[in-house]
Amino acid sequence: MQFTLNGQPFDFDGDPDTPLLWVIRETAGLGGTKYGCGIGACGACTVHLEGEATRSCVLPVSAVAGRNITTIEGLSPNTAHPVQQAWIAKDVPQCGYCQSGMVMAVAALLKQHPHPTDAQIDQGVTNLCRCATYHRIREAVHAAADH
Ligand code: FES
Ligand code: FES
Repeated sequence: MQFTLNGQPFDFDGDPDTPLLWVIRETAGLGGTKYGCGIGACGACTVHLEGEATRSCVLPVSAVAGRNITTIEGLSPNTAHPVQQAWIAKDVPQCGYCQSGMVMAVAALLKQHPHPTDAQIDQGVTNLCRCATYHRIREAVHAAADH
């Protein structure tokens, strides 16, 4: 089967039930998308499926045949995306493990809500951060929205 990964055609000929996360990490060798829980709860594995935030650990690769997947590596050249720039400016990450998923979730949220309220942020970004960087994340979302 084939899908588009960060703008390039990508072929996968393994088990169609393989979670997309493992195809991204192990077959494509893109390590920015993280494994946290494996049950769709934490958001560390968030990528974009046709521009929408999607948890790749619970999505069989067969579900993305012919579709567009973007990972953190493909979000922008040279971390130029406003969310990435806001993350740098606000020094958001602590350990960093959850952060690529956070950035992808926020980038998708801002497409839907260019100036989200705190309630929309809470509703739209349900990713977990064990380092509790939530207050900086919120600041950075607003900074990215003002960009
Ligand atoms: S690893 Fe996918 S939601 Fe936690
Ligand atoms: S920065 Fe450590 S889990 Fe979020």
